[in-house]
Amino acid sequence: MQKIHMVDLFGQYQKIQKEIDEAVLNVIRSSAYINGPEVKTFQAEFEKYMGVKHVIPCANGTDALQIAMMALGLQPGDEVITANFTYVATAEVIALLKLKPVLVDVLPDTFTIDPKAVEAAITPRTKAIVPVHLFGQCADMEALSAIAAKHHLFIIEDNAQAIGADYHFKDGSKKKAGTIGIIGTTSFFPSKNLGAYGDGGAIFTNDDALAKQLRMVVNHGQSTLYYHDVVGVNSRLDSIQAAILRVKLKYLDQYAAARRAVADRYDSAFKNHPEITTPAREKYSDHVFHQYTLILKNADRNKMREYLASKEIPAMIYYPVPLHLQKAYTDPRYKAGDFPVTEWLCANVISLPIHTEMNPEVQEYIIENVLSFLNDESVKISAGKTVVTSGK
Ligand SMILES: Cc1ncc(COP(=O)(O)O)c(C=O)c1O
Repeated sequence: MQKIHMVDLFGQYQKIQKEIDEAVLNVIRSSAYINGPEVKTFQAEFEKYMGVKHVIPCANGTDALQIAMMALGLQPGDEVITANFTYVATAEVIALLKLKPVLVDVLPDTFTIDPKAVEAAITPRTKAIVPVHLFGQCADMEALSAIAAKHHLFIIEDNAQAIGADYHFKDGSKKKAGTIGIIGTTSFFPSKNLGAYGDGGAIFTNDDALAKQLRMVVNHGQSTLYYHDVVGVNSRLDSIQAAILRVKLKYLDQYAAARRAVADRYDSAFKNHPEITTPAREKYSDHVFHQYTLILKNADRNKMREYLASKEIPAMIYYPVPLHLQKAYTDPRYKAGDFPVTEWLCANVISLPIHTEMNPEVQEYIIENVLSFLNDESVKISAGKTVVTSGK
């Protein structure tokens, strides 16, 4: 049987090899390596796909978040509310800019930020909310937008994991995830749904003045060549990566459909199993399944991972330690037990392989092994499951 990967990037490349090779060679032959025409064309094509006025390409998804906060003029001490259950980058940039990260719990079914917890965390110093569209599904943007409007807060959508997802509003309209808040950001890390062959990122906004500011910050704070109006950064999307992304953008919806088909097959195999909770799918958001993440009820996750590894099946824990229990983010405001949902998820989630090239036979083998582990009483523990107390 073919080797099983969490994400099969090489298999995906093989299907579009001719187009990719040509695109990369064209950039090399053009010598337009930095901010060349491929970057500009990708920007325009991505604006069209996203239905947004401005895409500002940059070097990665972490920079995108940082640049967003810089362009909004957030000042040291300003409070930024974000989800505790996320990749570290979301909180990292808040801390780097000397803003104050205010962590809140997530919802147990969608794993996304809990709007009620957001509202409870607002103080006079709160300036922004950063919801994360985790694992491919959107946070509840209608509830969050109402809170942001009521308290005059910015929303920066961290859309590193749900690019291409449609958000359906109650009035029947829809927008792409990442284009609902004042700013949205994404990452083109290779394993992302729209992944480059290296690093990359982008920022979205419909606000012309903000777009101007973002373009300045991203390029050394420069307004005109060698005139620097604000302190900025150097964060560029590489021309070769832009050329690759132009090819892959054409397939993004197809890729989302392929991921959904994998999720459907996992769902039908697991949905009635007493030991598993399958990922919830909210009506307001088309899930694009960046990850397929199960919550285990009584089974020992680490033993399951070891068992699967013994069958050459990779599985990952996204994420094993909540932010407030990470060494770098310990804070007298927070202690173990303060974020029950996040802590419970960190102790009980496990993500299975999901990607665009998943062959149904290989998936059947994964499913059989997950079920044979769970159905074997000897590997289960009934109580006292792993509790996460600190990050190493
Ligand atoms: C939710 C989230 N935010 C931000 C990032 C940062 O993106 P990058 O790795 O491109 O800096 C990631 C990437 O893993 C992510 O998953």
